[in-house]
Amino acid sequence: MKLVRKAVFPVAGLGTRFLPATKAMPKEMLPVVDRPLIQHVVDEAREAGIEHFIFVTGRNKAVIEDHFDRQVELETTLLERQKQKALDLLRHDLPEPGTTSFTRQQEPLGLGHAVWCARELIGHEPFALLLPDVLVQHERGCLAQMIDAAREVDQRSNIVAVEEVPRERVDQYGVVGVGAAKGKVFSITSMVEKPTQGRAPSNLILTGRYILQPEILDLLARQDRGTGGEIQLTDAMIALARTQPFYGLKFDGRSFDCGSKIGFLAANVSYALARPDIAPGFRSEIKKILAELNGG
Ligand code: UTP
Repeated sequence: MKLVRKAVFPVAGLGTRFLPATKAMPKEMLPVVDRPLIQHVVDEAREAGIEHFIFVTGRNKAVIEDHFDRQVELETTLLERQKQKALDLLRHDLPEPGTTSFTRQQEPLGLGHAVWCARELIGHEPFALLLPDVLVQHERGCLAQMIDAAREVDQRSNIVAVEEVPRERVDQYGVVGVGAAKGKVFSITSMVEKPTQGRAPSNLILTGRYILQPEILDLLARQDRGTGGEIQLTDAMIALARTQPFYGLKFDGRSFDCGSKIGFLAANVSYALARPDIAPGFRSEIKKILAELNGG
């Protein structure tokens, strides 16, 4: 029996930091090299053995559903033009029929609310939660690393991916307190959302990958509003931590916050440089740009 079979992808946010690009197009469809953000994250979940992909969408997000469907006309044209490689790629990326579900968050009331909107699809089993605007680049995906680590702790545990940031930036994130180590993970002693520097229990922040027990859904159902008037996931996790263990995993790899412009641009550079088919040409373009900027 698998530890985690289902993954939730909240994609109902407004993406205001990317306006006007996100006026008519979802932020999650912005490409990092030639794959939309949401595709990168679904790839990560597939690699980790996830069998069911649950998307919490909203208005203007129908294109995400289309992205995970067949495009028969396009496939026919590619076949006629003998573009077999492109066709194979499209087929490879497509989830198996019946393994995707879509539900709507009618108002973007926060991440916690988005997760709660998926409650009927999640049912009463542990689930993974992946924020599509965070990419983690490593040969073994972040969620796969978390599932490996989950085998070392009690099955009724919650696991979150964490990473270090400079102290002066902790006030932008959810921050965890560090307890005893257990294999590759450590026990979490506290969680604080966007603390002032003095109140931060460490400089380890929540990175956007979670394995959660279904009891979180009952806590989210109370619809308590937290920071910014939104229904915060961290608040529900703090409440759940009173009755269930929470562990943190310092994952291997580099994360990119693609919800910010700099993080998104950095991800494009890093992913392009990791692609053998485009890295040589791209590297020489970057060198030219930098040389011109430096006056040489
Ligand atoms: P963000 O807060 O980074 O996304 O949420 P946002 O609100 O779309 O972006 P900005 O701040 O306005 O630029 C992280 C993820 O959670 C989803 C978003 O779509 C994003 O993938 N989300 C956020 C929801 O699904 N619903 C919400 O109410 C809020």
